[in-house]
Amino acid sequence: MNEQQLPNLAPELTLNDGRSLPAVGLGTWPLNDAEAESVVGLALELGYRHIDTAMRYENEVGVGRALAASGLPRDEIFVTTKLDGPFQGNDRAVAGLEESLERLGLEHVDLLLMHWPLPSRDLYVDTWRTFERLQAAGKALSIGVSNFKPAHLQRLAAETSVVPAVNQVQLSPYVGRADHVAYHQAHGIVTVSYSPLGKGGALLEDPVVTRIAVALGKTPGQVVLRWHLQSGYVPIPKSSNPERLRQNLEVFDFELSAQQMSEMNSLDQGGGVDADLKGH
Ligand code: A2P
Repeated sequence: MNEQQLPNLAPELTLNDGRSLPAVGLGTWPLNDAEAESVVGLALELGYRHIDTAMRYENEVGVGRALAASGLPRDEIFVTTKLDGPFQGNDRAVAGLEESLERLGLEHVDLLLMHWPLPSRDLYVDTWRTFERLQAAGKALSIGVSNFKPAHLQRLAAETSVVPAVNQVQLSPYVGRADHVAYHQAHGIVTVSYSPLGKGGALLEDPVVTRIAVALGKTPGQVVLRWHLQSGYVPIPKSSNPERLRQNLEVFDFELSAQQMSEMNSLDQGGGVDADLKGH
């Protein structure tokens, strides 16, 4: 690759364990192995260095193939996977992560997340202790959670010793999650936003978003991603479309004004998936 073709890389955020995380990642749900292989391959060429998958997505093999084919040094790519319900309790996460690593073709992941708290099963505290051991063993360089509500995080804080590096939650201008974000900020937990574009639905046609997009000469998707970044969140948009994939990483050369941020903040409708009632 010559100098003109060097890809644009996202800046990094520091995690509470001292490691760092690229400020934009690529979401891979609901890509299958073949789709993930081609989309992740293109994303790595475009400059994405943060890839988010999960055991449950059933695309870790495809993600792993793209990582291997990229030829990039392992320590230049940040890979997240998640273990869901079948891997909670009784150290089941140990074998679960081993199987994920096998599918990914990796020796370790950069970030291992507990996919859902599943509070009715009451195994997340026990599972977190297993995660702490997996981190100590170097199998997961950082550990975190996903879909945890502040009450679940409080319980981890009271009963275990490692504070999750991140909590990955559904979050967008429509789903603001002020209570989650306040807890994260008070405890040094990085907020990773999934469905950051509102799943590509009405949010991208909202008049507030489209007006700001026109004013800045950017796309609605870029405006929404910029809102995440300026809020301190790490969005992981998914796109299978090469042009949108590129646009979603080109969000570091413009800014929303304080006024535009406040208009975006006013779009919050509350709600979002409730992890006391849902999860797998
Ligand atoms: P596509 O894969 O065809 O680009 P989210 O990450 O919030 O779940 O949103 C993903 C959805 O949004 C996908 O359907 C994706 O479709 C679409 N999408 C991704 N990036 C953009 C963008 N920049 N503008 C419009 N739609 C987008």
